[in-house]
Order: sequence, then structure tokens, then C-alpha cells
Amino acid sequence: MATHFYTAASLDGFIATAEHSLDWLFAQDFDVAGPMAYPAFIDRIGALVMGASTYAWLLSHQAKWEHSQPAWVFTHREFSVPTGADVRFIQGRPSEHVDLINASAEGKDVWVMGGGDLAAQFARDGVLDELWIQFAPVTLGAGQPLFPRALQLDLIDVARNRVRHRRVHTQDRRVGHPLDHAHRGPPAGSSRTRVDRGTGSGLFRIDPSQR
Ligand SMILES: NC(=O)c1ccc[n+]([C@@H]2O[C@H](COP(=O)([O-])OP(=O)(O)OC[C@H]3O[C@@H](n4cnc5c(N)ncnc54)[C@H](OP(=O)(O)O)[C@@H]3O)[C@@H](O)[C@H]2O)c1
Repeated sequence: MATHFYTAASLDGFIATAEHSLDWLFAQDFDVAGPMAYPAFIDRIGALVMGASTYAWLLSHQAKWEHSQPAWVFTHREFSVPTGADVRFIQGRPSEHVDLINASAEGKDVWVMGGGDLAAQFARDGVLDELWIQFAPVTLGAGQPLFPRALQLDLIDVARNRVRHRRVHTQDRRVGHPLDHAHRGPPAGSSRTRVDRGTGSGLFRIDPSQR
């Protein structure tokens, strides 16, 4: 079994805006059957771990609790628990709780959902194995950080989640797009290939010497 920090980030390293919005993320064009997408990932997960802000976000954005796995929430606050959810509130260092968390996963992997600081606490305690980061083609300028800790990682794999090309007529070309200034483009009336939006994913393993 392994413990993963699986998340999506902006290009400038934020996983949510300062106001905890994920609208920039849900505006992306995901292929749920594509590489490193969520459905295949969640199949291997036996327990969830998250911080208080992430749990609060789920409570306010999910009509009903969507997870069957035990969910461990690091917090000092008191929260409600949705009907039917297995939510366990804890606090302190991840290393104090990791045996119980791993046992609750019943042989499957553990998903540290976020935030970044909690994932960094797991790394600091030597109980985080991998980071799966889906980079959305957007910058936020500020927000909740992806991983506020210096760490040496090994790049294991990369993937483009959405690969779809289509021919478009140059009259469809957006005037004023920054890339348009980088080259003159094809002559008017010809066609060119347009690549739809998607995310670029990276799978990173934590160098054991960093633990
Ligand atoms: N882009 C994505 O795919 C993605 C994925 C997951 C989450 N998110 C979003 O990213 C944001 C993350 O928010 P965040 O950076 O504030 O992180 P967070 O980990 O969700 O919440 C941080 C809070 O958790 C509690 N906490 C953390 N470590 C603790 C510990 N060791 N013991 C006890 N309590 C602890 C503290 O709250 P208290 O002390 O007040 O309890 C802390 O302020 C959320 O908006 C979430 O929805 C995005």
C-alpha cells in the first residue's frame, strides 16, 4: 500500500483561490477515462485524509457525501458529519495517527486530499509516498499553496489528460490571443489544428533519502 497526495493545481502552484474557490478547476476539460484521471485512482483508495478547509469545502459543495471510505479529518474545530459518512476527527502529527489510518484502508492505498500544508506534514513525518498533480492551464496569482515545503522528488510519469485535435478555419482564430503575437499564423482562409483544453499531469515519488 502507498500514501498519495493526489490533487490539481494551477501552473503557479495553488490548489484553490484565497477564497477557497475551485471554479478555475471545474472549468477545465477533463477526460475521466484519460491518463491519471480520478475514476481509476479512486478505485485503489481505502482511506481518505484531509484538513479542515477541504472537509468544509466538501460539506458545502456536495449534495450528499460521495465517499464510502473512512475519512480522517485533521482539525481543531467541531464539524457536522453527513448521514452515512464514516468521518473521524483527529489532530496532531500525522505520524501519531498513520497506523490507524493505514489499518482503516484495509490493504488499499491512502489518499491525502489536501490541503498542501497537511500533505507537507505527511512528507515531513516520512509517511507520504507519491504526489499526483494535475496541472490546469491557468494561473491564479495567489491562493492556497500546493506544497509549502522544500522537497526533492523523482519524476515517475507525465501525461496529457485530454488529447483532442480538430481542424478549424483561421477565421475562427481569436484576435489578440497572446500566442497570436508569437507568430504570424497561417494565411487567412486556410485551416489549422486546434488543441482543446485539458490538464497535464505529473506523478512524482518522494526521494526516500528525504524522509
Ligand atoms: N485543487 C484540488 O484538487 C484540491 C484538493 C483538495 C482540496 N482543495 C482545496 O484546497 C483548499 C485547502 O485549504 P487549506 O490550505 O486551508 O488546507 P486544509 O488542509 O484543507 O485545511 C487546513 C486546516 O486544517 C487543520 N489542520 C491542518 N493540519 C492539522 C493538524 N496537524 N492537526 C489539526 N488540525 C490541522 C487546521 O484547521 P483548524 O485548526 O482550524 O481545524 C488548518 O487550518 C480548500 O479550499 C480545499 O477545498 C483543492
